[in-house]
Amino acid sequence: MKERIPTYEVITFGCQMNDHDSEVMAGMLESLGYEPAASTDEADVILVNTCCVRETAENKIYGLLGRLAHLKGRRKGNLIIGIAGCMTQQPEVARKIKNRFPQVDLILGTHNLHRLPELLLQARECRERVMEVWDQAGEIVENLPIRRASKVKAWVNITYGCNNFCTYCIVPYVRGRERSRRPEDILNEIRRLVQEGYREVTLLGQNVNSYGKDLPGPISFARLLTEVDQIPGLWRIRFTTSHPRDFTPELIDTIARCPHVCEHIHLPVQAGSNRILKLMNRGYDRNYYLNLVERIRRAIPGVAITTDIMVGFPGETEEDFTQTMDLVERVRFDGAFTFVYNPRPGTPAARFPEQVPDEIKSERIQKLIERQNEITLAHNQALVGRVEQVLVEGESKTNPEMMSGRTRTNRLVIFPGSRDLAGQLVNVTVTGARLTHLEGKLAATV
Ligand code: SAH
Ligand code: SF4
Ligand code: F3S
Repeated sequence: MKERIPTYEVITFGCQMNDHDSEVMAGMLESLGYEPAASTDEADVILVNTCCVRETAENKIYGLLGRLAHLKGRRKGNLIIGIAGCMTQQPEVARKIKNRFPQVDLILGTHNLHRLPELLLQARECRERVMEVWDQAGEIVENLPIRRASKVKAWVNITYGCNNFCTYCIVPYVRGRERSRRPEDILNEIRRLVQEGYREVTLLGQNVNSYGKDLPGPISFARLLTEVDQIPGLWRIRFTTSHPRDFTPELIDTIARCPHVCEHIHLPVQAGSNRILKLMNRGYDRNYYLNLVERIRRAIPGVAITTDIMVGFPGETEEDFTQTMDLVERVRFDGAFTFVYNPRPGTPAARFPEQVPDEIKSERIQKLIERQNEITLAHNQALVGRVEQVLVEGESKTNPEMMSGRTRTNRLVIFPGSRDLAGQLVNVTVTGARLTHLEGKLAATV
């Protein structure tokens, strides 16, 4: 009788780092002979890649673990549940998961992701619970297998971890100190991707612009971008996230000069009040930020600037919030992710006095979202009638009748077209604008 091929599912929470780590987990599972499961219910291994940046993420994950525990009960134990990612890097959380969810077979962290195959085999063969979380990162492990979600665009890590210690943020505690990958490893990975047919890369790091500070030799993010830009066959280069403090004039020039680097900068501002920015330990003030935006816009015509903004940081007064709204008005961001401050155990701000009451937080976030949505929509509407270059990614996720892709400024565009267009650059005339995307029709192929 033919042996059944074992199947897996990776469920991901959190940011792009986690999306990409999940691609690595999937790659490692496939190298062990696993195949993607048709549904969660059928999978032999389910891995949950977790995020702990806000409590909402953690609560969702506890809910999911409860459901998976139930599923395992129904399957009479014939299922391996693993939990990885940022949440398990907090020792008290890892302990809690271990105690509350005996159905979880495998617990690993962010620093020992590469150990997944060995640990999984151990859990599978020995039928015992395996828990291994390193409290520090080791050497960067290269050449892990990756199963990428897209055939057109790829994530490429350039740095791991973060040294900034913004006072609200848990990331440096769960991802460790900043480490840069060697430029030759990054360039080789991208060259291979191009050979495999990928056309776009997004360089990933918590703070990409501080790339290379820990490496010997004269290397900086600007220099790395220049080299990536010269790789033949690569059409588009993106990067995220940029920290305003480390955005050098050299970097602005480089982005302006490199033809393949897209005109989109995600530049989290977090707050518009100098007092709050200082308490957050962001290392810049509002004037610096406003001036940086102006310099970027002057040097890079048509650039889209998006941001992250938080309301309700401890001590945020009505006046501080007004300063944030005023900054939003002045910059007119092309888009923004908005967050309500959430105290994270172990971070300095969680211990700050004057935590803002929930009602005030929700009033402020509503005001902010409402205004930013108007601005985002106005930016999109201004594009109606224009022709945009779109890299086609495939069928639209929300409407499989349509194709979807992104403009250089990272706007999602949905348009009628043939499936063979996937992976191609096309010109699309924008016919309609929504908050989340543009609608269009094909003009001529580029
Ligand atoms: N490295 C990136 C993003 C890190 S997390 C950066 O520096 O911008 C993504 C976003 O989550 C942050 O930009 C911040 O706006 C938000 N965030 C982080 N910690 C938070 C907390 N404790 N409460 C609410 N939002 C938070
Ligand atoms: Fe967190 Fe600040 Fe680092 Fe971003 S730069 S990951 S917000 S500590
Ligand atoms: Fe979350 Fe970890 Fe990213 S905490 S936001 S998944 S780095």
